[in-house]
Amino acid sequence: MAQHEAAHKREVWSGRSVFIMAAIGSAVGLGNIWRFPYIAYENGGGAFLIPYLVALLTAGIPLLFVDYAMGHKFRGSPPLAFRRLNRGSEFIGWWQVLICFVIGVYYAVIVAWAGCYTFFSITEAWGDNPEGFFLEDFLHMDAESTFGLSFVPGVAWPLVLVWVLVVAVLALGVQRGIGNANKIFVPLLVVLFGALVIQALLLDGSALGLDAFFTPNWEALTDTGVWIAAYAQIFFSLSVAFGIMLTYSSYLKKKTNLTGSGLVVGFSNSSFEVLAGIGVFSALGFMAQAQGVAVDEVVASGIGLAFIAFPTIVSQMPGGPIFGVLFFGSLVFAGFTSMISIIQVTISAFQDKTGLGKVPAALTIGGAAAIVSILLFPTTTGLNTLDVVDRFANQFGIVGVAFVAVIVIAWVLRRLPELRDHLNSVSSFKVGLGWQIFVGVITPVVLGYMLFSEIRDRIDEGYGGLPDDLVTAFGWGVQISVIVLAVVMSFVPWRRGIEDEFELDENRPALTKTQQGENS
Ligand code: ALA
Repeated sequence: MAQHEAAHKREVWSGRSVFIMAAIGSAVGLGNIWRFPYIAYENGGGAFLIPYLVALLTAGIPLLFVDYAMGHKFRGSPPLAFRRLNRGSEFIGWWQVLICFVIGVYYAVIVAWAGCYTFFSITEAWGDNPEGFFLEDFLHMDAESTFGLSFVPGVAWPLVLVWVLVVAVLALGVQRGIGNANKIFVPLLVVLFGALVIQALLLDGSALGLDAFFTPNWEALTDTGVWIAAYAQIFFSLSVAFGIMLTYSSYLKKKTNLTGSGLVVGFSNSSFEVLAGIGVFSALGFMAQAQGVAVDEVVASGIGLAFIAFPTIVSQMPGGPIFGVLFFGSLVFAGFTSMISIIQVTISAFQDKTGLGKVPAALTIGGAAAIVSILLFPTTTGLNTLDVVDRFANQFGIVGVAFVAVIVIAWVLRRLPELRDHLNSVSSFKVGLGWQIFVGVITPVVLGYMLFSEIRDRIDEGYGGLPDDLVTAFGWGVQISVIVLAVVMSFVPWRRGIEDEFELDENRPALTKTQQGENS
């Protein structure tokens, strides 16, 4: 009995700085390093910083505050927090949890690739053909089949290692595992990436890259697509509205400055993004100059940027192996700290629902995610599967759940004033009508438009020229199953005693003036 009760006691961060570090670790991920530079360049270069900043201030940070208010006030994983908001909204929490599960299973694969490439950089293992090396020698990609289960051991074993490390950190718990991992990895990431940016800036041709990156195309600001790209970047990059920040804030002590922390996290994440743009474009400028072509001919994003363009740069530059280790090492640390936050969402929900302790919960959920991940991705067809799952999870899953969540919170249940009061009762930076308008009006309009255009385009055009079967099964199929399963999960009974726990918590004494002062 005693053990059962101990399992129910919610873990807490030891202090606000650990929480901030973990939240920054979650936000700064693959999206910052390989997505932002390309998105910014494609959508107006220097001028993109305007819609980007507007998106950060009108949607990113306001939604971050919603996540913090929900997690902190209702002290639970997403399904529990949404259930405590209103029983009928529990499915939204499960939807977020299942999206995290889906993202986690492929995100780990990219971290594993980056881990391998950190070692490959030392000897420049790709020789003079980085593309052929990546697709053929490393992934053993089978361009003929749509889907298969033939394993590539050189990817599967590193992936197993990533999962072992993720589960080990999560089994240690919130403070000892996640808190300590972030205290080590986030500063290490800043040092590694800082060194990379300095090395990149010193390359011949870096000014050419920076010029391409920052030269503003003001006309782009009249294009709605550019504005949508800015909002999409902010959602994924800040890790908002899919359960992560909500889960992390549920482990905060009662008196914690929520909005102040949110501002630190939001601006740190964006600063890292701009820094990544400077590093990546300096390196691309070098490559363009070395090849005697314009920068726009060498620009790439995502997998192509990291695993084809960067190895090419490493081979061409002086001190290439060091640069490669810095770049891929940064991807590993940035990816790992985001990865643990993504999987913690599912573990935390499972713990809340079943009452299991952190070790069995981490082993069960981490183990299940690892099996799915290892079955689907380190195969000769894994690259295309990953591409489809990623696209739909981001542009349909995250955008869809964020849209439904803000509509339900702001309009169906009309609970924004309550969340506003909660934020203001503990925070230094007060929010008011402006925040309510951003969350209740601007965000749903932008999200609704994004969701509508994505559904329309995917129905009309399919995705990336990939086979329809693959898109139907791993795109639409996965996302629709996630929604159905979320509804089913909301009917599965909770462990006994969950209501009483919240009663106790609800009756906690209000903060005194002195406590509020200490906290700001
Ligand atoms: N926010 C994380 C990223 O940017 C998920 O990759």
